[in-house]
Amino acid sequence: MVNAIINLYLKKEENMETTFDMFIETEVPEDELIISRTDFSGKITYVNETFAEISGYETHELIGKPHNVIRHPDMPKSAFADMWETLERGDTWEGYVKNLRKDKGYYWVFARMSTVIKDGKPVEYKSVREPVSYAKKIEMQNLYDEMRAKEENQTRVVLYIDNNLLADAEALEKT
Ligand SMILES: Cc1cc2nc3c(=O)[nH]c(=O)nc-3n(C[C@H](O)[C@H](O)[C@H](O)COP(=O)(O)O)c2cc1C
Repeated sequence: MVNAIINLYLKKEENMETTFDMFIETEVPEDELIISRTDFSGKITYVNETFAEISGYETHELIGKPHNVIRHPDMPKSAFADMWETLERGDTWEGYVKNLRKDKGYYWVFARMSTVIKDGKPVEYKSVREPVSYAKKIEMQNLYDEMRAKEENQTRVVLYIDNNLLADAEALEKT
Protein backbone atom coordinates (compact mmCIF):
# COMPACT_ATOMS: atom_id res chain seq x y z
CA MET A 1 0.00 0.00 0.00
CA VAL A 2 2.62 2.50 1.07
CA ASN A 3 4.86 1.57 -1.82
CA ALA A 4 1.92 1.96 -4.17
CA ILE A 5 1.33 5.45 -2.85
CA ILE A 6 4.96 6.43 -2.89
CA ASN A 7 5.43 5.06 -6.39
CA LEU A 8 2.78 7.49 -7.56
CA TYR A 9 5.24 10.20 -6.76
CA LEU A 10 7.15 10.36 -10.01
CA LYS A 11 10.24 12.34 -9.26
CA LYS A 12 12.38 14.04 -11.84
CA GLU A 13 14.61 15.96 -9.47
CA GLU A 14 17.36 13.67 -8.24
CA ASN A 15 17.63 15.23 -4.81
CA MET A 16 13.90 15.34 -4.18
CA GLU A 17 13.23 12.95 -1.33
CA THR A 18 10.08 10.90 -1.49
CA THR A 19 9.12 10.02 2.02
CA PHE A 20 5.83 9.08 3.56
CA ASP A 21 5.77 12.43 5.38
CA MET A 22 5.28 14.20 2.07
CA PHE A 23 1.72 12.94 2.03
CA ILE A 24 0.79 14.25 5.45
CA GLU A 25 -1.24 17.40 5.38
CA THR A 26 -1.48 19.86 8.26
CA GLU A 27 -4.88 21.56 8.35
CA VAL A 28 -4.78 25.30 8.92
CA PRO A 29 -7.26 26.23 11.68
CA GLU A 30 -10.27 28.36 10.63
CA ASP A 31 -9.93 30.94 13.38
CA GLU A 32 -6.23 31.78 13.17
CA LEU A 33 -4.13 33.86 10.83
CA ILE A 34 -0.65 32.87 9.76
CA ILE A 35 1.46 35.99 9.53
CA SER A 36 4.98 36.75 8.33
CA ARG A 37 6.95 39.80 7.32
CA THR A 38 10.05 39.99 5.14
CA ASP A 39 12.60 42.54 4.00
CA PHE A 40 12.59 43.52 0.33
CA SER A 41 14.71 40.49 -0.58
CA GLY A 42 12.22 38.04 0.95
CA LYS A 43 14.21 37.34 4.12
CA ILE A 44 11.91 36.65 7.07
CA THR A 45 11.89 39.39 9.74
CA TYR A 46 8.84 38.25 11.74
CA VAL A 47 6.51 35.26 12.07
CA ASN A 48 3.64 34.80 14.50
CA GLU A 49 3.31 31.74 16.74
CA THR A 50 0.72 30.17 14.42
CA PHE A 51 3.10 30.43 11.46
CA ALA A 52 5.79 28.60 13.43
CA GLU A 53 3.38 25.94 14.64
CA ILE A 54 1.84 25.21 11.23
CA SER A 55 5.20 25.11 9.45
CA GLY A 56 6.74 22.87 12.11
CA TYR A 57 9.60 25.28 12.89
CA GLU A 58 10.52 27.24 16.01
CA THR A 59 10.16 31.00 15.55
CA HIS A 60 13.91 31.55 15.94
CA GLU A 61 14.68 29.02 13.19
CA LEU A 62 12.73 31.11 10.69
CA ILE A 63 13.86 34.67 11.45
CA GLY A 64 16.61 35.70 9.02
CA LYS A 65 15.94 32.81 6.63
CA PRO A 66 14.80 33.39 3.04
CA HIS A 67 11.05 32.77 2.78
CA ASN A 68 11.64 29.99 0.28
CA VAL A 69 12.63 27.81 3.27
CA ILE A 70 8.97 26.69 3.16
CA ARG A 71 8.71 26.51 -0.63
CA HIS A 72 7.03 23.30 -1.72
CA PRO A 73 8.34 21.55 -4.86
CA ASP A 74 4.75 21.39 -6.16
CA MET A 75 4.60 25.19 -6.52
CA PRO A 76 5.20 26.38 -10.09
CA LYS A 77 7.92 29.00 -10.60
CA SER A 78 5.53 31.33 -12.42
CA ALA A 79 3.31 31.71 -9.34
CA PHE A 80 6.16 33.31 -7.42
CA ALA A 81 7.34 35.33 -10.41
CA ASP A 82 3.84 36.84 -10.57
CA MET A 83 3.88 37.41 -6.81
CA TRP A 84 7.18 39.33 -6.90
CA GLU A 85 6.19 41.41 -9.93
CA THR A 86 2.94 42.37 -8.22
CA LEU A 87 4.68 43.29 -4.94
CA GLU A 88 7.40 45.27 -6.69
CA ARG A 89 4.72 47.31 -8.50
CA GLY A 90 3.33 48.17 -5.05
CA ASP A 91 0.17 46.07 -5.50
CA THR A 92 -1.29 43.34 -3.30
CA TRP A 93 -0.89 39.73 -4.46
CA GLU A 94 -3.44 37.11 -3.52
CA GLY A 95 -3.16 33.44 -4.26
CA TYR A 96 -3.16 29.82 -3.17
CA VAL A 97 0.14 28.47 -1.90
CA LYS A 98 1.15 24.95 -0.95
CA ASN A 99 3.89 25.17 1.65
CA LEU A 100 6.48 22.67 2.86
CA ARG A 101 6.74 21.91 6.56
CA LYS A 102 10.04 21.25 8.30
CA ASP A 103 9.06 17.56 8.54
CA LYS A 104 8.34 17.52 4.75
CA GLY A 105 4.58 17.47 5.24
CA TYR A 106 2.56 20.23 3.64
CA TYR A 107 -0.18 22.78 4.24
CA TRP A 108 -2.29 24.89 1.90
CA VAL A 109 -3.00 28.56 2.50
CA PHE A 110 -4.75 31.42 0.76
CA ALA A 111 -2.11 34.16 1.06
CA ARG A 112 -2.42 37.90 0.73
CA MET A 113 0.92 39.71 0.38
CA SER A 114 1.49 43.44 0.39
CA THR A 115 3.91 46.24 1.19
CA VAL A 116 4.06 47.71 4.69
CA ILE A 117 4.03 51.51 4.45
CA LYS A 118 5.37 53.65 7.32
CA ASP A 119 5.31 57.45 7.22
CA GLY A 120 4.41 57.23 3.54
CA LYS A 121 7.42 55.04 2.71
CA PRO A 122 7.55 51.30 1.87
CA VAL A 123 9.50 49.54 4.64
CA GLU A 124 8.93 45.80 4.13
CA TYR A 125 6.52 43.13 2.90
CA LYS A 126 3.88 41.31 4.91
CA SER A 127 1.74 38.27 4.34
CA VAL A 128 -1.44 37.07 6.00
CA ARG A 129 -2.78 33.59 5.28
CA GLU A 130 -6.09 31.81 5.68
CA PRO A 131 -7.27 28.19 5.34
CA VAL A 132 -8.33 26.70 1.98
CA SER A 133 -11.36 24.49 1.30
CA TYR A 134 -10.83 20.85 0.30
CA ALA A 135 -12.34 21.41 -3.16
CA LYS A 136 -10.06 24.39 -3.78
CA LYS A 137 -6.96 22.43 -2.72
CA ILE A 138 -7.76 19.75 -5.31
CA GLU A 139 -8.43 22.37 -7.99
CA MET A 140 -5.17 24.19 -7.23
CA GLN A 141 -3.12 20.99 -7.00
CA ASN A 142 -4.34 20.03 -10.49
CA LEU A 143 -3.71 23.50 -11.86
CA TYR A 144 -0.20 23.71 -10.38
CA ASP A 145 0.58 20.18 -11.63
CA GLU A 146 -0.37 21.32 -15.14
CA MET A 147 1.57 24.56 -14.85
CA ARG A 148 4.67 22.75 -13.63
CA ALA A 149 4.42 20.13 -16.35
CA LYS A 150 4.40 22.94 -18.92
CA GLU A 151 7.02 25.13 -17.27
CA GLU A 152 9.47 22.62 -15.91
CA ASN A 153 8.67 19.37 -17.60
CA GLN A 154 8.09 17.70 -14.25
CA THR A 155 5.55 15.00 -13.71
CA ARG A 156 4.04 14.39 -10.32
CA VAL A 157 0.80 12.65 -9.58
CA VAL A 158 -0.95 13.41 -6.33
CA LEU A 159 -3.42 10.97 -4.93
CA TYR A 160 -6.03 12.16 -2.44
CA ILE A 161 -7.00 9.38 -0.09
CA ASP A 162 -9.19 9.07 2.93
CA ASN A 163 -7.53 9.84 6.28
CA ASN A 164 -8.45 6.38 7.63
CA LEU A 165 -6.75 4.72 4.68
CA LEU A 166 -3.71 6.88 5.29
CA ALA A 167 -3.58 5.79 8.94
CA ASP A 168 -3.81 2.13 7.86
CA ALA A 169 -1.04 2.66 5.34
CA GLU A 170 1.16 4.35 7.94
CA ALA A 171 0.56 1.51 10.39
CA LEU A 172 1.48 -1.00 7.67
CA GLU A 173 4.67 0.89 6.93
CA LYS A 174 5.75 0.45 10.53
CA THR A 175 5.24 -3.33 10.47
C1 LIG B 1 5.89 38.59 2.37
C2 LIG B 1 6.28 37.34 1.61
C3 LIG B 1 5.74 36.13 1.96
C4 LIG B 1 6.07 34.96 1.28
N1 LIG B 1 5.49 33.80 1.68
C5 LIG B 1 5.83 32.65 1.04
C6 LIG B 1 5.26 31.42 1.45
O1 LIG B 1 4.42 31.34 2.35
N2 LIG B 1 5.66 30.31 0.80
C7 LIG B 1 6.56 30.33 -0.23
O2 LIG B 1 6.90 29.27 -0.78
N3 LIG B 1 7.10 31.50 -0.64
C8 LIG B 1 6.75 32.64 -0.04
N4 LIG B 1 7.29 33.83 -0.46
C9 LIG B 1 8.12 33.83 -1.69
C10 LIG B 1 9.56 33.42 -1.44
O3 LIG B 1 10.29 34.56 -1.06
C11 LIG B 1 10.19 32.81 -2.72
O4 LIG B 1 10.15 33.74 -3.78
C12 LIG B 1 9.46 31.54 -3.15
O5 LIG B 1 9.41 30.61 -2.10
C13 LIG B 1 10.11 30.87 -4.37
O6 LIG B 1 11.40 30.50 -4.07
P1 LIG B 1 12.56 30.79 -5.12
O7 LIG B 1 12.52 32.28 -5.34
O8 LIG B 1 13.79 30.29 -4.48
O9 LIG B 1 12.18 30.03 -6.36
C14 LIG B 1 6.99 35.01 0.20
C15 LIG B 1 7.57 36.24 -0.14
C16 LIG B 1 7.21 37.40 0.53
C17 LIG B 1 7.82 38.72 0.13
